[in-house]
Amino acid sequence: MAAIVDLRDVSISYGNVRAVRGITFALERGRVLGLVGESGSGKSSLVSAMLALLPKGASVEGRIALDGRDLYALGERERRALRGREMATVSQDPFTALNPVIRIGRQLVEFQHRLTHLSRGAKRERAREMIARVGISDPAVRMEQYPHQLSGGLRQRVAIAAALLVQPKLLIADEPTTALDATTEAEVIEIIRDMRGEVDGSIILVTHDMGVVGRLCDDVAVMYAGELVESGPVEAVLGHPQHPYTRALLACDPARIETPSRHLPTIPGTVPSPAALPGGCIFSTRCPSVQPVCRVDKPVRIGIGASHAACHFAGAA
Ligand SMILES: Nc1ncnc2c1ncn2[C@@H]1O[C@H](COP(=O)(O)OP(=O)(O)OP(=O)(O)O)[C@@H](O)[C@H]1O
Ligand SMILES: [Mg+2]
Repeated sequence: MAAIVDLRDVSISYGNVRAVRGITFALERGRVLGLVGESGSGKSSLVSAMLALLPKGASVEGRIALDGRDLYALGERERRALRGREMATVSQDPFTALNPVIRIGRQLVEFQHRLTHLSRGAKRERAREMIARVGISDPAVRMEQYPHQLSGGLRQRVAIAAALLVQPKLLIADEPTTALDATTEAEVIEIIRDMRGEVDGSIILVTHDMGVVGRLCDDVAVMYAGELVESGPVEAVLGHPQHPYTRALLACDPARIETPSRHLPTIPGTVPSPAALPGGCIFSTRCPSVQPVCRVDKPVRIGIGASHAACHFAGAA
């Protein structure tokens, strides 16, 4: 079956800095992918390229295909049309998706403007149903309210409802729970999980949190300093991580620590800037298992079982 998203050797540059380099992977229809990595690893850049939402001055090399169509071979206008019709996004800040001066109900109707076969009444009814489905009580009341009258968690639910109303082939949620408190975060995660069936395609969830990946995703792609270091099915990657960076991220996951202290462990050091990458393996400057070869030769991604990892010692354990 054709992949919903197929990336071949994708690189993204801001001016002359290549912030994302050589990303190749495919996401099959119906699957949920977790895209993880520390701040600055290139997650948002990569999903923005898929959504054709990169800022001016950014450029994309390689091929990004959505359901078989090469996005960057299309003209600007066709690309935008495809985005509006077949992709939807939920961002960190639901205020960016919602217009503050228009009532929720009217906005949710307008989000459906591409569903031209439906009457306004039918769109309103779909909006009301979707609001109820994302767990908002009194949908009729909420439809008449403005975004600022809702709590952060409710606004994020409305943003998810809005994204689902367009029936996207690809739904991208970039850190959708970062701005929420822990309880609301857990609720929003549940909703995204329940909504899987509403997306006749695939979901990409960008997150820092390996725990969220374990609960919600089928596949995982781990990025570090602009490159894909490990990818594969969640059971394989979380159960038998091959890359020391993946292991380090898992070691920082509070849910996996048997006696959590107040201070969560973090990976020592910082992600190198894309303008000043180390030679050899990009993780060599922080890797707890670094060997002399790692500082000289850049590892290529190899398959180990169901996973792929870019480490000289992948599969060695
Ligand atoms: N508009 C931009 N102009 C120049 N450089 C940028 C721009 N956006 C991102 N970058 C650079 O690209 C790299 C990847 O950033 P990106 O925001 O994609 O990472 P991220 O994984 O989404 O991080 P976070 O977890 O903080 O959201 C960083 O080095 C960043 O400085
Ligand atoms: Mg980001």
